[in-house]
Amino acid sequence: MSPAGDAAREAPFSAAADRNKAPILEVLANALPADAKVLEIASGTGQHAAHFAAAHPRWDWQPSDIDPRALDGIAARCAGLPNVRRAILLDVLAPPAASGLDGPFDALYCANMVHIAPWATCGALMRLAARELASGGVLVVYGPFIEDDVPTAQGNLAFDADLRARDRRWGLRRIAEVDDEAAHAGLQRVQRHAMPANNLALVYRREPG
Ligand SMILES: C[S@@+](CC[C@H](N)C(=O)[O-])C[C@H]1O[C@@H](n2cnc3c(N)ncnc32)[C@H](O)[C@@H]1O
Repeated sequence: MSPAGDAAREAPFSAAADRNKAPILEVLANALPADAKVLEIASGTGQHAAHFAAAHPRWDWQPSDIDPRALDGIAARCAGLPNVRRAILLDVLAPPAASGLDGPFDALYCANMVHIAPWATCGALMRLAARELASGGVLVVYGPFIEDDVPTAQGNLAFDADLRARDRRWGLRRIAEVDDEAAHAGLQRVQRHAMPANNLALVYRREPG
């Protein structure tokens, strides 16, 4: 194993990210152009960045996370991928100025953050996307959600209760409210994909102008 391979093997690993990376990639491949500059919010272990960028060498991938400890793990996971930039520190609640990011981006991608962070992160994510996306660009949000007209799976109800017990600011989000935050920011939901394990992938488009 090369030194880069050793570092990737020792980097933080998420079994869930390993399971969901293939179905999410299918959604991204349909939603994103062949040549796309992408800003990922809350990259975590960097497994998604590594998998997606390896599958699509013409995607120019910028990972980020609020947690400075995550950045080395992301770099280790993505070592050897020339289309993945060095991960940056980014808190959606206090994002860098527009001049500090290399936008506009064709897409923003954010998995599994809005339910494991305060509700304010949802609106902040939408406003950041509206600011950083090129006209017609898309924001892809992945995770478990609550839909008013669809029964919530038992597993998601239990997950929601567990999250709220861990931190009362956390919890699964209602899509209707997520859509409202998006609309206020100037984004329109254009796709909803049912994903394995009762997750959803939601695609929002920045309205032209
Ligand atoms: C459950 S992990 C998801 C990681 C990865 N996206 C995935 O799906 O495997 C949640 C991530 O959200 C990040 N996060 C939490 N609050 C954030 C914020 N305000 N801004 C940016 N990232 C945040 C955490 O540091 C963590 O990496």
